[in-house]
Amino acid sequence: MNNHISSLETFHLPVMLNEVIKLSSPSSKKKFIDCTFGGGGYSKEILKFPNTFVQAIDRDDKVLIIAKKLEKKFQERFKFTQIKFSQLATIAKDCVDTVIFDLGLSSIQLDDLDRGFSFKSRKKLNMTMGLNDLTALEVINNLSEKDLKSVIKILGDEKEANKIAKNIIKHRNIKKITNTVDLVRIIEKSKKKNYSSKINPSTKTFQALRIFVNKEITELIYGIINATKILKPGGKILVVSFHSLEDRIVKYFFTNFSKNKSRPSRYFPEKEIKDSSLFDEYKNNVIRPSKKEIEQNNRSRSAKLRFAVRSKNKFSFPEGLIEKFKKYLVLESIND
Ligand SMILES: C[S@@+](CC[C@H](N)C(=O)[O-])C[C@H]1O[C@@H](n2cnc3c(N)ncnc32)[C@H](O)[C@@H]1O
Repeated sequence: MNNHISSLETFHLPVMLNEVIKLSSPSSKKKFIDCTFGGGGYSKEILKFPNTFVQAIDRDDKVLIIAKKLEKKFQERFKFTQIKFSQLATIAKDCVDTVIFDLGLSSIQLDDLDRGFSFKSRKKLNMTMGLNDLTALEVINNLSEKDLKSVIKILGDEKEANKIAKNIIKHRNIKKITNTVDLVRIIEKSKKKNYSSKINPSTKTFQALRIFVNKEITELIYGIINATKILKPGGKILVVSFHSLEDRIVKYFFTNFSKNKSRPSRYFPEKEIKDSSLFDEYKNNVIRPSKKEIEQNNRSRSAKLRFAVRSKNKFSFPEGLIEKFKKYLVLESIND
């Protein structure tokens, strides 16, 4: 069992660990929430600082074995709860110093071919991270052609979504599509002449399905809103994202709900402006992994780290964020 734990723990290399820790500046009595525990890379590093408190969460029960070990070692300082981060507010109320998100999949999940996240997998279609309502198998075999096309086009940015969706329907009308190999073949056939050799033809469709199955956009939007709600004034929210849609959402939230945007017009007299911004001035700093890190961990290559500092203002729900990304929220809920 111990061998099993350590192989899981060393499986995932934490991305931009030094940068995340430096920004979090762990010190005595500070309270942290690690919203994406995974292999526990960030949590373990924070716990090295005396008297820090970490509440970790993850939707995947496969990480329980690692979390239990930490709970035993740091009985008073570490707690793990298996929930989705959109439900963050159910376990933490307020007065948190730092909330950290490291989005997407861990290597523990991606490299477990039984879970069907990778197009290298030859297993049953699944792609669930944990606490899901549906699997990729259900999506591929039950969604209408129109909805499949929207999912692949909007969440995968796949230009040939139309043809792929058509061919999925054609195949499943003859025989249920049950494994990743069948799906890969359908995608390759649909894209036959047009795919570039640089990126695998299945990459975008697999990304779209994974995002849809796990409602990743809905999770991110409600996750960062709830995190903001429980941060104390001066507290930090940190997000490591891996694709452009995630980064666009984080950037929009931090920019448009910070002090930068709270003044509607420079001609407006300052004392008449009611500042209800959620964050202090946002500097639009994007932190990227070093060349050395990318060489050592190829998966870090697309990572972007952004952070914002909570203002003193009372929390007010950022309706504008929901409005801006409504298209994605509606799409992810078509099966509800
Ligand atoms: C990239 S890994 C995090 C790795 C971690 N920072 C480390 O150093 O080991 C992302 C983790 O977040 C979890 N996750 C993704 N979306 C989630 C959500 N909506 N709620 C809770 N956990 C989520 C995944 O299950 C996965 O374990």
